[in-house]
Formats: sequence, structure tokens, C-alpha cells
Amino acid sequence: MNALKQWVTNSSEAINIRLVKAAPGTGDDEDEQDIIEFNPVFTYPMFGEQEQIFGYKDLAVNLEFASGSLASCFSMGYKEKKPTADKIYTTMKDFLPKDIIDNHDVFTQIAQRDYTEFKPMGTKVAEYRINHEGAENSVFESYQANFNTPRFLEYHRRLQCFAIFFIEGASFIEDTDEKWEVRLLFERLNEDGQETYNFVGYCNMYPYFYYPDQIRMRISQFLILPPYQQQGHGSRLYQSLYADFGSRKEVREMTVEDPNEDFSDLRDKNDMKHLTAKGVFKNLQAPIKSDRIEEVARTYKLTKRQVARCFELALLGSLD
Ligand code: ACO
Repeated sequence: MNALKQWVTNSSEAINIRLVKAAPGTGDDEDEQDIIEFNPVFTYPMFGEQEQIFGYKDLAVNLEFASGSLASCFSMGYKEKKPTADKIYTTMKDFLPKDIIDNHDVFTQIAQRDYTEFKPMGTKVAEYRINHEGAENSVFESYQANFNTPRFLEYHRRLQCFAIFFIEGASFIEDTDEKWEVRLLFERLNEDGQETYNFVGYCNMYPYFYYPDQIRMRISQFLILPPYQQQGHGSRLYQSLYADFGSRKEVREMTVEDPNEDFSDLRDKNDMKHLTAKGVFKNLQAPIKSDRIEEVARTYKLTKRQVARCFELALLGSLD
């Protein structure tokens, strides 16, 4: 049994996702390139519930992405391999970008070219700076896109694997459906006089019919890449939706599909902040009438359930 164990690797640990910032002139020398490496959280859609890969010793699977354009490269290394070893690329292929390559030299050339040439697609809707170590020279920009936006379909085919790796239960969305709306977040950096963009995260939303003539906008997948988490970007991305939906007459309500705990926290915190700033919780007194909940929900385009939850949190907070 133990002899077999040494040939088993945990797939999420073996896979290294690398975001490569390859400034021109850095060559293929990894020491000179700026690389951020992290592991996926979920690999069960590829390797099964146990998330195991059989047949290798000291296995490392590298998925490299140019940090802005997300052009990608697959490579793997190991110390020993059994003839019956799992076929890793074949197993992962359907989840990886269709244009992933396996030639590292070519990848480096592409990453260097994209470092200066890649620009976000879609309509720029917001920009901000954050007060976080290492982000002093960064401006964060969000863009609105859909599958008719030039260059977006190809870009989406590169980024969609991140949803599988980081959102439990995620699957690819139908990219032939033009109704999907996507909000992309990028970091714009000015390095040595050169402007470059890095991909930070995104969310996609689908408009459902709201009787009789409006839509309910449902957030389906929401993701900030691990190196950018816990810095306020998820909140900024979520907050940017208030302004957008608030100004669109056809949008009646914003909802979320299967929020996990982290997203529910983010949603509660930001909705509370938003409603507090609007003065909704002034002179709060229990019980809150359902008419009041309905009115707040309609005004701020939130669900009645979420507004009731916020009132509950506000009442609890007022007990302190
Ligand atoms: N320094 C330290 N902490 C900070 C800073 C900062 N400068 N700014 C904000 N934070 C804290 C916030 O207070 C918050 O704290 P809390 O966890 O105690 O509530 C925490 O960081 C998270 O807030 P944000 O930074 O705004 O959120 P983040 O950018 O990390 O995004 C998200 C959250 C979307 C859940 C992200 O972690 C993620 O993408 N996770 C993986 C994918 C995922 O789970 N997505 C949601 C699935 S559900 C769905 O898709 C509908």
C-alpha cells in the first residue's frame, strides 16, 4: 500500500499557476521575470473527488499565463513516471485555454510582446487606486464587455479556467449567448515609462426576465485572483455594480447565484455600507414593516431577502 502511495500526488498541490510579467529584454531567464505563483483551490472537475494524480514522483505541472493577455503555456516535470501513469494534459485539456502552447521559448516571446501590447477590451467604467503595499504605482480599471465586444470571446476562453480552479461547482458559461454581461478588472502599471496591464479578476452576470418588462441581473461567477485578494478589489468590483444597475431603468433587481460564504460576507458588508450611507437605517426601530423592506429593495435594486437580512444586521448592530 505504502509503495503505491509514493506514486500518488494531490492534483491541486502539483499544479502551479504562474502569472508572468515578462518585460521585454528579460529573456527566458525565470530569475529576471516577475512571476507570481499559486495553486488552484479546486481540481476535482478534472481529477475527480479525491483530486489525485497517479503514476509520478515529484510531479510539478506548470500553467503559465502572461499576466495581462493570459496567453498560456503548459509544462510538466517529474523525477519518475510509471508506464501506467495518468495522462495529465489529456485530462486537463478541456478545461484549459484552447490556444495554450507547450513551447516555453515561444511563450516567453508572446508574453514579452503582450507586456506592452496587450490592452483591456470593452468599455472602461471605473478606475481607482488602493492603499496597499506594492500597489503604489497601480491604477485599477474595470471594463464592461459582452461576447460581441471585439477580442473578448478569445479572452474569455483564456480566463474561464480560473472559474473552475477557484469557484466550487463552477462550469463554463455558454459563450454563444450574447446576453451575458462581464465586468473585467485590470491593474494598470507604469514601469520604466512603459504602460502594462495585469488581469485581476472578473464577474459575469445574466439578465433574467422580471415581470412585466424589466430584468433581474444575476451575478453568476465572481472572482478576484489570489494575489489580489483581501485588498478591497472584490468590494470595489461589487460596488461598481450599484452605480451601473442604479442608472439602468430596465434593471429591477440584482441577485447572486449560489453565493459561497466569502461572497455572502462581501455582499453583506457592502450592502450594509451602501444602505447606511443612504440613511436607510436612521431611527431604526423593530419590528421593520414589510412595506419598508419592499420600498428599500425597490429603491436600491436589492432582493427583499437581502434587504431584510441587512435590517436584521443593523438591528443587531444597534443592540451593541
Ligand atoms: N488589507 C487587508 N484586508 C483587506 C483590505 C486591505 N487593504 N481591504 C479589504 N480587506 C478585507 C476586507 O475587510 C474583507 O475582510 P473580511 O474577510 O474579514 O470580511 C476581506 O478583505 C475581503 O474583502 P475584499 O478584499 O473586498 O474581497 P476580495 O477582493 O478578497 O474578494 C472574493 C472576495 C471575491 C470572495 C475573493 O476572495 C475570491 O475571488 N475568492 C475565490 C472565488 C470565490 O470564492 N468567488 C465567489 C464565489 S460565489 C459566486 O461566484 C457568486
